[in-house]
Amino acid sequence: MQINAEILQKLANIVGDAYIFTDQETRNHYGHDETENYVFPPSVVVKPANAKEISEILKIANDYKIPTTPIGARTGLSGGALSIYEGIGLSMERLNKIIEIDEQNLQVLVEPAVITQVLREAVAEKGLFYPVDPSSQGSCWIGGNVAENSGGARAVKYGVTKDYVLNLEVVLPNGEIIWTGANTLKNSTGYNLTQLMVGSEGTLGVITKIVLKLLPQNTHNILMLVPFYHASQACEAVSAIFRAGIIPSALEFMERDAIDWTLKFVDGLNVQVKEDVQAHLLIEVDGNYPEILMLEAEKIMGVVEEFEIDEVLFADTDDQKNALWKMRRSVAEAVKANSIYKEEDTVVPRYVLPELLQGIKNIGKKYGFQSVCYGHAGDGNLHVNIIRGTLSETDWKIEVPKGIREIFELTVSLRGTLSGEHGIGYVQKNFMDIAFSKTHLELMERIKYVFDPNNILNPGKIFPDSL
Ligand code: LAC
Ligand code: ZN
Repeated sequence: MQINAEILQKLANIVGDAYIFTDQETRNHYGHDETENYVFPPSVVVKPANAKEISEILKIANDYKIPTTPIGARTGLSGGALSIYEGIGLSMERLNKIIEIDEQNLQVLVEPAVITQVLREAVAEKGLFYPVDPSSQGSCWIGGNVAENSGGARAVKYGVTKDYVLNLEVVLPNGEIIWTGANTLKNSTGYNLTQLMVGSEGTLGVITKIVLKLLPQNTHNILMLVPFYHASQACEAVSAIFRAGIIPSALEFMERDAIDWTLKFVDGLNVQVKEDVQAHLLIEVDGNYPEILMLEAEKIMGVVEEFEIDEVLFADTDDQKNALWKMRRSVAEAVKANSIYKEEDTVVPRYVLPELLQGIKNIGKKYGFQSVCYGHAGDGNLHVNIIRGTLSETDWKIEVPKGIREIFELTVSLRGTLSGEHGIGYVQKNFMDIAFSKTHLELMERIKYVFDPNNILNPGKIFPDSL
């Protein structure tokens, strides 16, 4: 259904004329996220103030069968926020308040458009810790983190977004508003709609309030950068660290290109890398007792020294720590500054990481593409950035996807899956058959139907076109 003047008027009656936009510039602005170079502008951008307005909007969308795409900070890497069928772009930006930090129960009630880092800093001021820190934490929003079940560097010890979501206020596609659970740490009461909503990528409902569990803030950490002469050995060291009895609070992998491109991209990073070094592990331990952390760091040293490594750098000051984290967090942007790329978010049990990395490189050779790999090695979560570079249109559109299919086949054969933390969205949907049987996909599709029989909410995501 095309959006006509009558529908626009109805939408304007809900949100007010000041919060509805049809000009090309605004539509383009809300038509892209960080996925490749895709731009899918919605026909109209609507900026509601609250759940009630969203409810009214969704009722209209249902009446007129208008595709409606919730839009967050647009930092996503799987195209979840792209309005691929135009329609209404539902920007969540005005729902941006931290409503209550509950210091008695270690919880926070927050609206979706709060920047994740702002939330983390606000609770830290009260001595509380929200551990989930995606690399884009300075710009991504907590609502998008919930919708995509985002992870980040601390997931290896603290878990991902889903591990902190206790309860959600959600506007269902028919306009009804529900709370999915309770503000309790335990809950065995009926189907777990809270967790069904987490990671559903804006296809089942619009999240308007979020209750998160918090932890007490810890006080100390040690950060070390370990240069390896062989990328495969860096991957092998990952599981060895756990087998030595240590759970680091971060265990991140960067291969040589990721390091080089980032060092060129970010000013003032004073990190020297010897020519023969092929990969880094960035390893952090945290806690409250420096003596224990020292012992853990020594134990990690004992493990990594079994491999061929260069001198380990211990970050002594906060400035040094921040520089190393900046380097790690800037990889995606650095790659993008070099070339358009396709991002695959592979995840496998961590022990088979070396096989995954090697397999990806072999597939790249076969199909003639360069991949830059980095990510959350402690979780077995390897981001594979496939570089467009000078590839022809045919290679990019036909050959590379064949290679990606092989990468995912390899991932699944290693008992892994397609996405660890970026979601399926628009760009991975046609690979879902690799991870799921038809029965499984149809079951998911029936769940979608129960929530959204008219398929108005974020259509064209998650499910393969062929289903
Ligand atoms: C990272 C984002 C891309 O790990 O997930 O940097
Ligand atoms: Zn990541």
